[in-house]
Amino acid sequence: MSKTEQNLADAFAGESQANRKYLAFAQQAEKEGYKQVAKLFRAAADAETVHAHAHLRTMNGVGKTVDNLKTAIAGETHEFKKMYPEMTEAAKAEANKTAERSFNFANEVEKIHAHLYQNLLDTLGKTKENYSYYVCPVCGNTVEKEPPGTCPICGAKGSMFKKVD
Ligand SMILES: [Fe+2]
Ligand SMILES: [Fe+2]
Repeated sequence: MSKTEQNLADAFAGESQANRKYLAFAQQAEKEGYKQVAKLFRAAADAETVHAHAHLRTMNGVGKTVDNLKTAIAGETHEFKKMYPEMTEAAKAEANKTAERSFNFANEVEKIHAHLYQNLLDTLGKTKENYSYYVCPVCGNTVEKEPPGTCPICGAKGSMFKKVD
């Protein structure tokens, strides 16, 4: 990998993190009643997404959908087979319950993501199905068509799920 390719990968990671961090900071500012600060955090978060996407495209990180689905499945599978199990074990060993819970939630949901991606990869271009997804705001559980009564992973109310169209 050339120096610039490595820099693109590092910059993509940094801008992606800044995006999520600023959105979390915006939520916090909103909670504290700082509306203008919240707005700036959201605006900057959008700008960081523009930078992140430009870096990613420059490093040829976006392919055809059939390949992107395979990339996504590989990423999710690595996370639930290796990354999160190891992180969960380490959190247990260090008695960090909050981290253990956070890793566990992500681990369970990555399995679901891999499965959902696989289903669409298997039928790509063969079906015209059109339905919504629902995302749990507590654990990230991702469900097709209708939210559950209660989230089977974290116990949150289904009415809290966010619809994605
Ligand atoms: Fe995922
Ligand atoms: Fe949940």
